[in-house]
Amino acid sequence: MKYKNSSSFANILDQNDPLGAYPEKFYYPKNKYGDNLIYFSGNSLGLQPKSVRTFVEKELDLWERKGLLGQHSRWKNFHEKFLETTARLVGGHSSEVVVMNALTVNIHFLLISFYQPIGTRKKIIIEKGAFPSDLYAIKSQIKFHGFSPLNTLIELTPREGESTLRTEDIINVIKNENQELATVMLGNPNYYTGQVFDMQAITNAGHEVGAFVGFDLAHGVGNLTMRLHDWDVDFAAWCSYKYLCAGPGAPGGVFIHNKHHDWKNHRFAGWWGQNKKTRFNMGPDFDPIKTAEGWQVSNSPVMGMAPLLAAMDIFDEVGMTAIRKKSEKLTGFLEYLIIKVLPEVTIITPENPIERGCQLSLVVPGGKKIFDELSNQGVVCDWRNPDVIRVAPHPLFNRYTEVYDFVIILKHILDK
Ligand SMILES: Cc1ncc(COP(=O)(O)O)c(C=O)c1O
Repeated sequence: MKYKNSSSFANILDQNDPLGAYPEKFYYPKNKYGDNLIYFSGNSLGLQPKSVRTFVEKELDLWERKGLLGQHSRWKNFHEKFLETTARLVGGHSSEVVVMNALTVNIHFLLISFYQPIGTRKKIIIEKGAFPSDLYAIKSQIKFHGFSPLNTLIELTPREGESTLRTEDIINVIKNENQELATVMLGNPNYYTGQVFDMQAITNAGHEVGAFVGFDLAHGVGNLTMRLHDWDVDFAAWCSYKYLCAGPGAPGGVFIHNKHHDWKNHRFAGWWGQNKKTRFNMGPDFDPIKTAEGWQVSNSPVMGMAPLLAAMDIFDEVGMTAIRKKSEKLTGFLEYLIIKVLPEVTIITPENPIERGCQLSLVVPGGKKIFDELSNQGVVCDWRNPDVIRVAPHPLFNRYTEVYDFVIILKHILDK
């Protein structure tokens, strides 16, 4: 794509945008004069789809009118409404996904199954600078099994002078750990740098040495096109309040490859994972559903899931291929303008579109002060210590003209 540095060019891109009608389907935060803020924080909390209220009111209304009878007629199988759409979102089969719990909770539940340190095979790999919750979860899992993170946790570190990891280096670490490696779990994309890892190559490498491989897709779901089943990924977990726009604290989702569904090993069980035919017999023996649903523990948080239903309608209507196509162009435009207009800004996110999603991570002279000034001037993005401003134009609710306006605002601030 050949971009131009002008507002009229940004306008033309908006006018010709096949997804140009979608921003109208979301509520925008506004400043005190009633103007829309420039909202580039879909990687933290997606905007509210206007349809959400209707979806929530439907469940409130049923609860009001039917009480427990709503459980029998609708909520008992509520999570099943997400199986097909979620499978399309991550490139899996409907039996391989389920919406449940919150993200870190799911990471723990998945690691109980997919991190099984035994004998000399007890190491686990994560990327250095992973989201702290993932690191805490992994360290506590290691300790739970009676080991020390000091000689069990391996953190992948970029080469000297580089900000992101090279696939060849990740694979070499996996090969070197060989029989000592139990599990690989990476955040994809990494929340700080925005780097997307080659899931297929890493999964293959992990499997070659006999390890399980999984991903925290908090920043991947609704952002990247994925084929988790074909890539043979063992497990994955994500949240739905970021790119998926399902609201603060909305429930997460998991993927568990169907080759693991007849699981005989560890799992933490609960009644919602029980065979549906016998669940309400209230018997003492756990007979798990032989799909990802078998990892469920509790019944569905229907009120939290209703906004996700609204959001998934939109994602399913557009499809990840079209979403990703716009995202590459939108983020590409942002990158082009930054390089052209703001030479003092360093983009640490990889240049190659297949190694990134919506987000660009910017290192800006003046750091936090510049971020604060952006906030004062009506830009919603975020600051992550030690020195990054994360900017993530969302293909469903952001426009090319907002990208242009953002760069002009940042230029004015930096010129001052
Ligand atoms: C990569 C990543 N992992 C884990 C979490 C924690 O999510 P939760 O609070 O839903 O468990 C977040 C939250 O932003 C995240 O970005």
